[in-house]
Amino acid sequence: MNDNKKKRVFSGIQPSGRLHIGNYLGAITNWVAEQHQYDNVFCIVDLHAITVPQDPQELYHKIRELALLYLACGLDQKDCAIFVQSHVAAHSELTWLLNCVTPLGWLERMTQYKDKSVKQESISTGLLDYPVLMAADIILYDTDMVPVGEDQKQHVELTRDIVLRFNNLFGETFVMPEPIIPKTGARVKGLDDPTAKMSKSSTNQGHALYLLDPPDVLRKSIMRATTDSLNKIAFDAEGQPGVFNLLSIYQALTKKSETEILSEFEGKGYGNLKKQVAEVVIGTLEPIQKRYADMAADPAYIEQVLKDGADRVRPIADHRLYVAQKHMGLRK
Ligand code: TYM
Repeated sequence: MNDNKKKRVFSGIQPSGRLHIGNYLGAITNWVAEQHQYDNVFCIVDLHAITVPQDPQELYHKIRELALLYLACGLDQKDCAIFVQSHVAAHSELTWLLNCVTPLGWLERMTQYKDKSVKQESISTGLLDYPVLMAADIILYDTDMVPVGEDQKQHVELTRDIVLRFNNLFGETFVMPEPIIPKTGARVKGLDDPTAKMSKSSTNQGHALYLLDPPDVLRKSIMRATTDSLNKIAFDAEGQPGVFNLLSIYQALTKKSETEILSEFEGKGYGNLKKQVAEVVIGTLEPIQKRYADMAADPAYIEQVLKDGADRVRPIADHRLYVAQKHMGLRK
């Protein structure tokens, strides 16, 4: 389906909160690094965001903010289509077809559903169905690779199960996608609690490093990060989760090896480690923040980017939807 062409990459982020360094290291920085090699489709998954309550005005603003951050982080429109999920109707339409071949039990065992549903007063059907929409996102574009953080691996594996089932039932229809998980930065933890994932939805002060946080806020959050009393700098995820988290952020941003990092910090204390991490984080985010501010000054610009992106991908998605409908006996 995509033979003899560049391989296709698809990924997305929910516009459900402020983007943090976990999203950057687990996803965006890897999209940017490899973009010239592939044919890329990057989505702002607004339909996923509404599986839990959102303020409509805020959501509208967050969608634009996220799109601008994609560009500010370095995605290049030459190689990447950037669009909003709800602007391409095929995502919702294919979800329905996939719903009808996906056993309920597959969705009930998803760990993210179990985690999120305990936090909601009332659980929407959309929250349970979330991974099927994600499968539709991916397979509408004949996607070969899905670069995501560790927490999304189970959803991409479910997508593979759905592809297998659909293709078995109705004949070869969808390409089998592969999850691509980075070696470092795939599971950044909260600075306040290094046993829990850094998350967009946390409201705790000092939990996350947001991409648009000013330097003094970033520095303060890092300097206050939870560590331990062992006074030892080692890559020990179990025994020293706080120190490990800081070292992993440092490693992912500097691309240095563990050995180089350990010799750099040999004989030094946690204060010094935190200072170095803060410098690297601020040094990485400052140019992104500057590009973001420049682009945000012209609101019409991002509207055009999103329109161009949706226009570019719609025919691909419509075609794959049509093939699926045909194979199911819905169209001639
Ligand atoms: P979302 O919006 O929660 O997260 C976006 C991306 O950031 C990664 N990520 C992390 N990586 C490392 N450490 C963390 N603490 C961390 N937190 C988040 C996520 O793994 C993800 O790559 N369901 C998806 C969005 C989605 C999608 C798709 C992704 C919808 N359709 C199709 C890929 C393909 C989600 O909620 O990501």
